[in-house]
Amino acid sequence: MKIISNPIELKNYLKNKKETIGFIPTMGALHEGHISLIRKAREENELIVVSIFVNPTQFLKGEDLDRYPSKDEADKKICEMSEVDVLFFPHKKDIYCDDEVSLLAPKVRGYVLEGTSRPAHFDGVLTVVMKLLNIVNPTKAYFGKKDAQQLNLISLMVKQMFMSVAIIAVDTVRESDGLALSSRNVYLDADERKEALKISTSLHLAHKMISQNILSSTEIKKAMRKCLSPLEIAYVEILNRDFEPIDEVIIKNTVVLVEVKVGTTRLLDNIWL
Ligand code: PAF
Repeated sequence: MKIISNPIELKNYLKNKKETIGFIPTMGALHEGHISLIRKAREENELIVVSIFVNPTQFLKGEDLDRYPSKDEADKKICEMSEVDVLFFPHKKDIYCDDEVSLLAPKVRGYVLEGTSRPAHFDGVLTVVMKLLNIVNPTKAYFGKKDAQQLNLISLMVKQMFMSVAIIAVDTVRESDGLALSSRNVYLDADERKEALKISTSLHLAHKMISQNILSSTEIKKAMRKCLSPLEIAYVEILNRDFEPIDEVIIKNTVVLVEVKVGTTRLLDNIWL
């Protein structure tokens, strides 16, 4: 596995490659969820590039940038074992300078759900993803469905900026008890870990109601909120795949999303129906 930290060096290295390139951008602290993205990319591409960069511009003041889990050596081993060809490991100065050109998330879709409590978070996400995609110039880039709003906005950016990369959505990986894998799960103590199970239980309940033909968004959200109680709920939403609110679930065109705070940790999850 080649490890490169300089963007220009990486661009030059990849420039003359004839192979299809699958790219997985990450912030490190790799877990089974990331490995499933790498695995999917391996199935569909000849050359695999993973980036590890804890992007400071997507953290707001007071968020967990300073304590974001860092496991550089373990991450390198995981990449090697997953047969990654190139690991891009830039420093902040390789990606950003003082007076920056940057992207702005759309004013409606970027400022609902997670964007309500984290204004400008998606400006940072889109800016760094645009930079990374321009450096790697992949055939396909892989993102987890767990960060559904991020996935939606990146797909929108690629379409609206006329970029040619294909964005591939990959299913969420869960612990055997249902908790969605997240780098932030390490913040949870044993009691919080137990409480966090209410998230997947509430989504399971939504799924069950829908399979019993209860399709009213209001009714489903009410039942989910009850199930999540007494957790601090940031939102429970039912949207179509274009991220617009819907009054009734539309089969094969619905995302049910939850964000809660467990202790001091924000956790997101969703199901696509
Ligand atoms: O999902 C993440 O890990 C990050 O938001 C991403 C896409 C790597 C951008 O920093």
